[in-house]
Amino acid sequence: SLPSSVRLVEVGPRDGLQNEPTLVPTAVKVELIHRLAEAGLKTIEATSFVSGKWVPQMADHAEVMASISRSPGVTYSVLTPNLKGFNAAIASGATEVAIFGAASESFSKKNINCSIQESLERFAAVATAAKEAGVRMRGYVSCVCGCPYEGPIDPKAVAQVSLALYELGCYEVSLGDTIGVGTPGSWAAVLREVLTVLPVTAVAVHCHDTYGQALPNILTALQAGVSVVDASVGGLGGCPYARGASGNVATEDVVYLLHGLSIDTGVDLHKLVQASDYICTAIKRPNMSKVSQAMLAS
Ligand code: HMG
Ligand code: MG
Repeated sequence: SLPSSVRLVEVGPRDGLQNEPTLVPTAVKVELIHRLAEAGLKTIEATSFVSGKWVPQMADHAEVMASISRSPGVTYSVLTPNLKGFNAAIASGATEVAIFGAASESFSKKNINCSIQESLERFAAVATAAKEAGVRMRGYVSCVCGCPYEGPIDPKAVAQVSLALYELGCYEVSLGDTIGVGTPGSWAAVLREVLTVLPVTAVAVHCHDTYGQALPNILTALQAGVSVVDASVGGLGGCPYARGASGNVATEDVVYLLHGLSIDTGVDLHKLVQASDYICTAIKRPNMSKVSQAMLAS
C-alpha cells in the first residue's frame, strides 16, 4: 500500500543550479530558498561545500548559508564530500550534511576524484566529525540504474554501497538515478536489493528525468514503501560529471502526483509553481515542469 505522507527533499538550489553555465547571483539563490520554504518544503538542499574549481556555481556556498533567513522547522542541508567541506559547512551554520558516493567506480573517480573505497574512508572522517558535532548526515549513492561511463550497474553493488553509507551513520540513503536511465523494471530490481539490507524508512529516491521515466519510477518506489522523494523545482539540474544528464524530476510534478493519490506533502502547489516561475525566469530557462506549464498557462 502507498504511504499516507511523503517527505520531499528539495534539491533545486543545489542539484538544480550546480550545472548552470552562467553564475546565478547569490541573492537569487537565497530568494529561491526562501520561496521554497514559504511553499511548505521542509528539507531544502541549499548548496554544496565542494571545490569551486570543480563546481564554480557552488563556490558561494558560505554566502548562501549566511544569507538565508531560516524558517523554523525547515532543514537546510548541504553536500560535503570530505572533512574540508564538512568543516566549512559547520562554520557556516549547517545543521545537516550529505555525503555522496557512487555504485560505479568510474563515476566516483570523475565526480569526486577517488575510488569507492577511498570515498568511504573520506566519508568515515566526515561521519566521525558529524557525530561529534551532533549534525545529521544523509548519504547519496549515484548511478543506481546506470553509469554514464560504465553502462548498467549491478543492483547488488548499489546495495553494498548503500549499506556502507548507512553503517557510517547516514540516517537515510538517497538512491540516485544520476542519468535518468532507470525504468520501473530496473528500479524495482534496485529497490529489491537495497531493501534486503536497509529498512525502508532509511531509503529515499532521487530520480533524474532524462528519459522521461521519473514519475513512474517514483510510483514504483512508493509502491515498495519508500516515503522520501528528492525533486528539483522546475525540473532544473544535472550533474556536471554526467554528460547529458538532464534535470531532476520537477517537484511540482511530484506534488501533483502525490496529492492526486491523496498522499500528504505539506506543500502548497500554487506557491511552489510561483517559486518555479521565479527561478526559471531569473535564470532564463524554460520551465521543465508540465504542472508549472499547465498552471502558469491557465
Ligand atoms: P580533489 O582535487 O581530489 O581534492 O577534489 P584534494 O583533497 O586533492 O584537494 C585539491 C584542492 O581542492 C585543494 O586546494 C583543496 O584545498 C581543495 P588547492 O590546494 O589546490 O588550492 N578542496 C576543497 N575546496 C573546497 N571544498 C572542499 C574541498 N576539498 C578539497 N570540500 C573533491 C576532491 C571532492 C573536493 C572534488 O572532486 C570536488 O569538489 N568534486 C565536485 C563533485 C560535485 O560537486 N559533483 C556534483 C554533486 S554530486 C551529484 O550531483 C549527484 C547527486 O545529485 C545524486 C545523483 O543524481 O546521482 C548527489
Ligand atoms: Mg542528482
